[in-house]
Amino acid sequence: MTENQRPRIAAMQGCGDYNLNSALQSSNLQSAVPLLVDAAKSIAMDPNRPMLLADYGASQGRNSMLPVSAAIDAMRSGREPAGPITIVHTDLPSNDFASLFTMLDEDDASYLRGREGLYPSAIGRSYFDMILPPNSVDLGWSSNALHWLSHNPINVPDHGWAILGADERARDAVDAQLAEDWERFLRARAVELRSGAKLICQFMGRGPDGHGFEWMASAFWESWVDLSRDGLLSPEELLAMTAPSAGRSMAQIEQPFAGGTFEGLRLEFITTIQAPDPYWDAYQESGDAEQLGRSWASMMRAANGPNFVSVLSPTRDKTALLDAMSGRLARRIAQAPQRSRSYNVMLVLAKD
Ligand SMILES: C[S@@+](CC[C@H](N)C(=O)[O-])C[C@H]1O[C@@H](n2cnc3c(N)ncnc32)[C@H](O)[C@@H]1O
Repeated sequence: MTENQRPRIAAMQGCGDYNLNSALQSSNLQSAVPLLVDAAKSIAMDPNRPMLLADYGASQGRNSMLPVSAAIDAMRSGREPAGPITIVHTDLPSNDFASLFTMLDEDDASYLRGREGLYPSAIGRSYFDMILPPNSVDLGWSSNALHWLSHNPINVPDHGWAILGADERARDAVDAQLAEDWERFLRARAVELRSGAKLICQFMGRGPDGHGFEWMASAFWESWVDLSRDGLLSPEELLAMTAPSAGRSMAQIEQPFAGGTFEGLRLEFITTIQAPDPYWDAYQESGDAEQLGRSWASMMRAANGPNFVSVLSPTRDKTALLDAMSGRLARRIAQAPQRSRSYNVMLVLAKD
């Protein structure tokens, strides 16, 4: 299959819906912000040109505001006068960039509030290719994005995530795709980053005892299976619903760096930690299991819904199916609440 024939992966649910339903992703990225601040302080500011900060996989922007604000302040701290900084938010062509720019203009959390000399822009192209000029990026950031594959390599009948299905060959195909995509991402960034630049990435990892995402991924999948049992989805439609995402282990991430550097990039720091669960924390306070169910269902719908319904024919009422699936998922979680066990990987890449 050539690159152009591959099914395209869908961006997050539009109309600002991801911005409203990504508190989990906001919690995930917090632990990586100190790494970004340290990197921002370490890079050499050049007074003769604008500095460039790239935000890879920005979606609708809400979760970029805090890290980008922190990075800008750290870059400028103790280095008066504050020079111009270009901020480039990148995502897939189908991303809802209008929500991002509206947020930048109108929201109190915008990094433009109270700061001068900032020039935001956006690129709607996949970061598995080069999307910025060679030697142009001073500082890079990517949160909650790199566990998305360039495409889904294989459909499996027994799960919405092939990496969690029973077929070992299918799991191997996902691992092979993860490896290929990671090298493609690194190759492109190795060209784009300037010498002395750093790139901080946070995304879904794997734990020592499993993937960590099993509980929620299975609850989401079972909710689609319910629709099929109720005659709302055909077996063929259900089979095609396989998510183009999977977490990476530390060994998988470190593999290209086995010889020291990869294409001139150095893996300066890497760790995997247990992910926070803000929905569970809120439930501990409120005891409201229905709200816990609604929070998870809305987040899963905003992040994964578009890819699952992208396989359906255009004549299908996708909103109605997403409503039906979300209702079942929310009920499933409310009936058996538990804390999510997921893993976050955080890393710093340096171009020396
Ligand atoms: C879960 S969202 C994360 C958004 C935001 N950075 C955050 O931390 O909440 C993942 C984003 O990565 C984007 N993405 C996935 N694959 C991509 C690719 N190949 N190139 C650019 N963006 C991609 C998706 O479209 C989506 O907006």
